[in-house]
Amino acid sequence: MMIGLRKHKLRRPALVIALASVACFVMIITAYIYSTPTRTGSDKCNFYSSEGCRTRDLFPNDFSRELTDKEIESRVVVKDLLNYVPIQTNTPKVAFLFMTPGTLPFEKLWHLFFQGHDGRFSIYVHASREKPVHFSRYFVGREIHSEPVSWGSFAMMEAERRLLANALLDPDNQHFVLLSESCIPIRHFEFVYNYLVFTNVSFIECFVDPGPHGNGRYIEHMLPEVEMKDFRKGSQWFSMKRQHAVIVIADNLYFTKFKYYCRPNMEGGRNCYSDEHYLPTYFNMLDPGGISNRSVTYVDWSEGKWHPRSFGAQHITYKLLKTLTSLNQSPHITSDSKRTVLITPCMWNGSKRPCYLFARKFYPEALDKLMYLFANSTVSFGN
Ligand SMILES: *[C@@H]1O[C@H](CO)[C@@H](O)[C@H](O)[C@H]1NC(C)=O
Ligand SMILES: *[C@@H]1O[C@H](CO)[C@@H](O)[C@H](O)[C@H]1NC(C)=O
Ligand SMILES: *[C@@H]1O[C@H](CO)[C@@H](O)[C@H](O)[C@H]1NC(C)=O
Ligand SMILES: *[C@@H]1O[C@H](CO)[C@@H](O)[C@H](O)[C@H]1NC(C)=O
Repeated sequence: MMIGLRKHKLRRPALVIALASVACFVMIITAYIYSTPTRTGSDKCNFYSSEGCRTRDLFPNDFSRELTDKEIESRVVVKDLLNYVPIQTNTPKVAFLFMTPGTLPFEKLWHLFFQGHDGRFSIYVHASREKPVHFSRYFVGREIHSEPVSWGSFAMMEAERRLLANALLDPDNQHFVLLSESCIPIRHFEFVYNYLVFTNVSFIECFVDPGPHGNGRYIEHMLPEVEMKDFRKGSQWFSMKRQHAVIVIADNLYFTKFKYYCRPNMEGGRNCYSDEHYLPTYFNMLDPGGISNRSVTYVDWSEGKWHPRSFGAQHITYKLLKTLTSLNQSPHITSDSKRTVLITPCMWNGSKRPCYLFARKFYPEALDKLMYLFANSTVSFGN
């Protein structure tokens, strides 16, 4: 358009030169953007993507609008990061990221879980209210710097990012799991480790919820970058591969959008909770094929209340744990009047596998019964 406006003023040779330089510039930019992913075929095939090479087209031709400068910058960075082979070390570890107000009520149970597996895990604790008291040597000195976090606030996302960044400092950490103080392990370490370290996707729940607690939270201030059709919902409790943890830390554009436009008590009394929307939406936009769309942490929303069902001591039986470990389909419940339950089989590297490694929410009083069952059911929770 600028060329069109200037045309009248420029003499012919000048116009040719101007057009040629514009064309050159466009070609160089296009070549840069489109060439990076196809540098060499083998670059894209890493240890984790068992099926080989997946092309990730972050610049599809069918975009209905022109991308902003910030979007192009963001997509170029993400595309390159996704195509790099992650650092491989001889001692891959799973990073367990605990988000808690203070002392972890199930620390003794986690101790039992970690025991005998030194060197294959690392622990990070974000204690937002008070310094935790520890019962296990695995947890001593594992607190990172923390800030206050209130329920549903954006500070939750900032704390998740803080945990990821601290855990990324250790190059051995290959997979990152977010857990709360009310989460428990329902499988033995070996099972969890293999499930996570050898997966080719991140376990991030992601689905379309047309109801008030899904798309009803979307606000048009998120335009142009985030359209309603891109908006997704999912559980906060993720597990992700190293590459994905890096692209989360690299994001500023979408993170900022959510920080300002997806939080509680927005104008007009609207509420939005970034911990349930930012990561599902971000991955849906930038690497939809790289996530499982389901979580590995069990939770029971079937009561249809504001908070999920909590399990107390009286609910803890061998049968309950056996049931949780054998589930192989995961439900996503929409919040509209239809309350549609979308059920999907849980896949792991192309075959159907049990869905869950962890479960929530449990009351602290459940500890003793859980310890007893966990310690005495080696076979059942290990397969
Ligand atoms: C994933 O599946 C592929 C194809 O079935 C297989 O070659 C590969 O070894 C599997 N990877 C793991 C980690 O099990
Ligand atoms: C998750 O959903 C996306 C988009 O709907 C899809 O491309 C992807 O294959 C799904 N992941 C799995 C593991 O099914
Ligand atoms: C993961 O592995 C399965 C089975 O080999 C394959 O179908 C799927 O496309 C792979 N996903 C990614 C993101 O590499
Ligand atoms: C496992 O069972 C034995 C015998 O029933 C019991 O003595 C022990 O305390 C149990 N372990 C735990 C951790 O509760």
